[in-house]
Order: sequence, then C-alpha cells, then structure tokens
Amino acid sequence: MPRLVVNGKTHDVDADPNTPLLWVLRERIGLTGTKYGCGIAQCGACTVHIDGAAVRSCSLPVNEAEGKQITTIEGLAQNGVLHPVQKAWLEHDVPQCGYCQTGMIMAVAALLTEKPKPTDADIDSTITNICRCGTFQQVRAAIHAATNA
Ligand code: FES
Ligand code: FES
Repeated sequence: MPRLVVNGKTHDVDADPNTPLLWVLRERIGLTGTKYGCGIAQCGACTVHIDGAAVRSCSLPVNEAEGKQITTIEGLAQNGVLHPVQKAWLEHDVPQCGYCQTGMIMAVAALLTEKPKPTDADIDSTITNICRCGTFQQVRAAIHAATNA
C-alpha cells in the first residue's frame, strides 16, 4: 500500500503501485484541483511538485512518489496566504475556462523557485503547458509580475 506525503499530510492509499499519481491524488485522496488533460505527459494539466520540481503526474507511477514531498495546487498557498504566482494570476485575470490553470500555476511556481527572474526564453522553454483558451500572453505578463512581487 503506497504511503504518500501530500501537502504535508501522510496518506496510506489503496492503489496498485503502477497507478499514475494523478488518479491517486484525485480519486483516492480527493484533491481534484489537479486536472487530467492528455494522460501522456504532453499538456501539463496534471502538474504537481515532487520535492519542489514540476512533474506531470499522469505519467508518474505512484510508487515513484513514495518518500517524497508532493505538493498540489491545494497546498500552494501557505497559512492562508496565496503564493505570489496565484496573486499575479488574479491581478492579470489569467484564467479563461481555467482548466489548464492549476497545472500552469504549479509549473510556473517551480520555475520561479529555480529561476527567480526568468527571461522570455526561459519561460518559452520551460512552460510548455497547453492552454486551449490561448492565455499565453497573460501567462507571460503574470510571470514577470510575480517576479517583481
Ligand atoms: S494530463 Fe498529464 S500532461 Fe496532460
Ligand atoms: S484557461 Fe482554458 S485551457 Fe487554459
């Protein structure tokens, strides 16, 4: 039975070790902020943090996440205070339908941990999440705003 630490809480989950982490988060633990888009590590809707790095959870067997710190969108705010990326997203009205946005925010938060002042080239090469609503210009503006927060 895999044991996971998600947003600081330990969960013993009844799941086959090869089950993608995404489905364990959504269906066993009930954290539905992480979305399913493609299931093949292409769209980024399912992005979470594993030990601080952005990972596409649709393609990670749950047993590979054991013993690591998993953070989902539900755990990004700390003590009721939104993460700077979340604040910038609100200020720039980034979401349209919203479906891709939790994965987008998690990918950006991990980027800013690694590179606090990313260039447009850094953003283009790292934030490869797909947004069918085409929010890419707002995403870029909000990333730059978050770096100045
Ligand atoms: S659902 Fe995981 S990358 Fe698309
Ligand atoms: S906001 Fe609709 S898919 Fe990105």
